[in-house]
Amino acid sequence: MSGRDAVVVRAPAKINVHLGVGPLRADGFHALTTVYLAVSLHDTVTARPGEGLSLRVTGEGAGAAAGPGLVPADRTNLVWRAAELLAEHAGVRAEADLEVAKSIPVAAGLAGGSADAAATLVALDALWGTRAAREDLLRLAAELGSDVPFGLVGGVALGTGRGEQVSPVLATGRWHWVLGIAGEGLSTPAVYGELDRMRADGRVPDVTGPRSAEPVLAALRGGSTAELAAALSNDLQPAALALRPDLRRALRAAGDAGARAALVSGSGPTVAALADDEQSAVRLAAELAGAGVFRTVRAVSGPVPGARPAG
Ligand code: C5P
Repeated sequence: MSGRDAVVVRAPAKINVHLGVGPLRADGFHALTTVYLAVSLHDTVTARPGEGLSLRVTGEGAGAAAGPGLVPADRTNLVWRAAELLAEHAGVRAEADLEVAKSIPVAAGLAGGSADAAATLVALDALWGTRAAREDLLRLAAELGSDVPFGLVGGVALGTGRGEQVSPVLATGRWHWVLGIAGEGLSTPAVYGELDRMRADGRVPDVTGPRSAEPVLAALRGGSTAELAAALSNDLQPAALALRPDLRRALRAAGDAGARAALVSGSGPTVAALADDEQSAVRLAAELAGAGVFRTVRAVSGPVPGARPAG
């Protein structure tokens, strides 16, 4: 123990401003070229000294609000597994009282669970004084899930491999978005599976590798909202729309309400609508809240930093 009382770490949600999905690999994952952008919607992970490991999940995204069994407060939660993995790596006992205060909706395509796991690695590394090397934390994060390493890095990053190999990229702007969360969560494997079927039966063109992220990277370097709007793309979107046809209406509603562009975030069902500036985002959020197509609407901006102790 390092003798610290409590470590509080904020964990940002992400959107994928580019998601190029290659063929299914032998290990059950798809080769990806993706660009992650961390946005100002956070969960908070608090780690306190404790006997054994305990986990409490609180906040608007927890418990019954999320759906039965969606945020388990036991060893099946990625946060719990993050704690055990770091303890094993560092050769310490997995002892902590963990609390996750959830604002990021669950199973929404915003990588909330992954962000919580990344924040747990950071919080417990500080609480236990384990001082794990950055590369070790990134490796442990990759073991936990494809999106977890990005949770450590934050900002804007290119993801390759299955998404777990992340490298920061230059972005010269800050962009304003409205996140519209529509209906029940979508299962990530189900959405990838639907894309495979659509490619196999010719509903969408088949591919030999993931699409290049260059147009979106150029737009991020340049900082222009119009250029970014034109470059946004997500190969999982047709699959999410096939599973959830209502999302078409949600995307249309975002366009009608004045968004520069709108796309499904990750495997969905969240719709990320890009606004011209902060004021437009607030207006867009108000309009979309009244449109009746989303359960929750949030105005956010990004990039923001990855998991790090608050204060
Ligand atoms: O890595 P993670 O646990 O987040 O992945 C969840 C599921 O999403 C995988 O089991 C797989 O079905 C799908 N997936 C995929 N290709 C990726 C990432 C995830 O097929 N690159």
